[in-house]
Amino acid sequence: MTKNVAIFISGGGSNMMALVQAMKAPNFDAKPALVLSNERLAVGLTKAKLQDIPTVVVDHRQHGKNRMAFEEAIGRALKPNDIDIICLAGFMRILSAGFINNWRHRMLNIHPSLLPKYKGLDTHQRAIDAGDKIAGCSVHEVTAELDGGPVLEQASVPVRPNDTGATLAARVLVEEHRIYPKVLRTFAARPAPSKLFG
Ligand code: GRF
Repeated sequence: MTKNVAIFISGGGSNMMALVQAMKAPNFDAKPALVLSNERLAVGLTKAKLQDIPTVVVDHRQHGKNRMAFEEAIGRALKPNDIDIICLAGFMRILSAGFINNWRHRMLNIHPSLLPKYKGLDTHQRAIDAGDKIAGCSVHEVTAELDGGPVLEQASVPVRPNDTGATLAARVLVEEHRIYPKVLRTFAARPAPSKLFG
């Protein structure tokens, strides 16, 4: 059965677009059912609309420090779309353990480092500052530990002597676009875990 995928973004949405393009393949067991952004002005929203994918904005600022209210609003946005899988793709909000556990084994993330190295932000500069010769990206299942869930796929790239955070990020991004769709394809083809929520 074709799985309905919600992709959560906050910015440019290039990973979202890589997933969307990949899901167009006839033997891909998933389709983009919703693109959700916490940022009203996220460029990725425009890209999704041009693909005729339903979009929704759930602005965290409207909920102040009330993370539960923010997540309830996300839940309400997901509900009518019968979502099977959530793909975090540059979504810059931390979700609570409660929300994540409801989506256990049904939520993926792409992280721009070779986990378990460099969880959190500023991964490329941290790799350069550490003198690493290799950097990369990881697709993992989302668990309550930030960037700590089981890694499903990684890809590495060289760190070049004159790299800045930006040049390294661009090199890593190419690999992100390659491995995230690959993992989603396999993930979507598994027997569905029972739904607790959504
Ligand atoms: C990617 O590098 C992703 O790994 C990180 O944020 C960036 C998002 O880029 N979490 P995009 O919005 O997919 O272009």
